[in-house]
Amino acid sequence: MMNKITAIRGFKDILPQDAWLFGQIESRARDVFACFGFREIRLPMMEKTELFRRGIGEATDIVEKEMYTFLDRDDQSVSLRPEATASVIRAYIEHSLFASEPISKLFTIGPMFRRERPQKGRFRQFNQIDVELFGEENPQADAEMIAMLMLFLEKSGLKDFALEINSLGCPSCRPRFSRALTEFLQGSEDSLCPDCRRRIHLNPLRVFDCKVESCAAVLANAPMIPDFLCGDCLGHFSAVKSILDDINIGYAVNTRMVRGLDYYTKTAFEVKVSTLGAQNAVAGGGRYNGLVQYLGGPDVPGIGFAVGVERLLACLPAPRAEVFKTDLFIAALGEKALKMAFPYAQQLRGAGLSVEMDYSDKSLKAQLKRADKLNSAYTLIFGDKEIEEKQVILRNMNTKEQHRVDLNHLLDQLKKIIKER
Ligand code: HAM
Repeated sequence: MMNKITAIRGFKDILPQDAWLFGQIESRARDVFACFGFREIRLPMMEKTELFRRGIGEATDIVEKEMYTFLDRDDQSVSLRPEATASVIRAYIEHSLFASEPISKLFTIGPMFRRERPQKGRFRQFNQIDVELFGEENPQADAEMIAMLMLFLEKSGLKDFALEINSLGCPSCRPRFSRALTEFLQGSEDSLCPDCRRRIHLNPLRVFDCKVESCAAVLANAPMIPDFLCGDCLGHFSAVKSILDDINIGYAVNTRMVRGLDYYTKTAFEVKVSTLGAQNAVAGGGRYNGLVQYLGGPDVPGIGFAVGVERLLACLPAPRAEVFKTDLFIAALGEKALKMAFPYAQQLRGAGLSVEMDYSDKSLKAQLKRADKLNSAYTLIFGDKEIEEKQVILRNMNTKEQHRVDLNHLLDQLKKIIKER
C-alpha cells in the first residue's frame, strides 16, 4: 500500500458536523451584525508581506516568527494573512470607501494563518469573524463594538465569558509609558529571557506578550499604562466604561493587557473563557486611530475585533447537532427501473427536494434500510410492474403506509405531499 498523505500539522479538516456548526455561527454573526449596520466584505488570503510588516508591526511575534512568507515566482514577497485588520484597511483605502461614506462598517469571515506551536485551541490555520468600523472617534463607538461582540457571543450560546478592557494610550502619552517601562526593564535585564532583552530596545511593550515565567515575575512590578494616560485618553476610557455600565455590560480592567499587535491606541479588549486552558481568549480587539493613515490612507480613526471561530465552538456547551434529513429515497428495482427513475430524481431535485437513490440494485429490504439510515421521510418504489402500470408506490417511512401515485402526476403530487409534511 502507498504511504497515506495526511494534513499539515496545525491545519485541521472541518468535517460535516463541524462545518454545519460553523455555518450556524456564521449566520448568527451575519444576523447580529446586520442589526448594527455592518456589511460583509470578502478579501484575498494572501497579501504583499509589506502590508503586515507595516500594519501589525515588525517587532511583534506574529510578524517576527509566525507568518507564512515566501517569494512568489516573480520574486515578490507575499504572506498568508495572519489576521484580517490590515487587509480590510488595505481594501478600504484601495477602493476609497472613505470617499463614499463617512462611516464604514465592515465584517469578514475566513481563515487566517499563524505558524505558532499547535496546541489545544491553537492552530496554524484558524478562522476568524473579523469586524471593523472606520470613521468614528466617539467612545460610544467603542462601547457599541463591545456590545455587539457580547451580544453575538451570547446569541451563539456561549456561557461564562468575561470581558477585559484596558486603554493603551495614544502617540502623545504612550512614549512616556514606554520610557518608564524601558528604564524599569533595563534595571531587571539579567532576569529577562533573551527575547525580552531584545524587546527592551526594539519595542518594550511586547515584553507583556512573553510567556516565560521568570519574565512574568519581573513584569508583576512593571509600570502600568493607566498611570501614564493623557487627559484625552483618560476621558475616552472613562466614557467607554460609563457607557458599558449604562447598558449593563460587566467588565474587568486588566492594566497589563497590551494585545499582540502594535496598532492599538486607546481602548483594547479581550473576551476570555475559563474552559480553554492557556488559549483562553475567544475574541480580542481595540481601537487603532492612526493605522489607516500609516497604511497610506486618510486620517480616519478605526476600531474592530476578531472572534476565533474554532475557540468559540470549542467552548459552546453541548452544541446542537445537525439533523440530516432526506425528503425522498428512490428505490429502483432492476436496471430498467433505475433508468426510468433517474430523470425523476433529477426533476425533483430541481424542484428543491432532497432526493437520494441507490445505484447498486440491492433488494427492496436493503434499500428501505438505507432510506431509514438517510432519515428519509418517504421512499418511492419503482419496480418493473409499477412501471408497466404507470403507478409507483410511495411509502411513508414513519407510518409505513403505502399508496400508489400516478407516474404522469408524480412531480405535482410529490411536491404537494412532501411540502405539506
Ligand atoms: P487576535 O487577538 O490576534 O486579534 O486574534 C483574535 C482571536 O483569534 C483570538 O482571540 C483567538 O480567539 C483567535 N486566534 C488567534 N490566533 C489563533 C490560533 N493560532 N488558533 C486559533 N485561534 C486563534 C486579531 O487578530 C486582530 N486583528 C483583531 C482586531 C480586529 N483588532 C482590531 N480589529
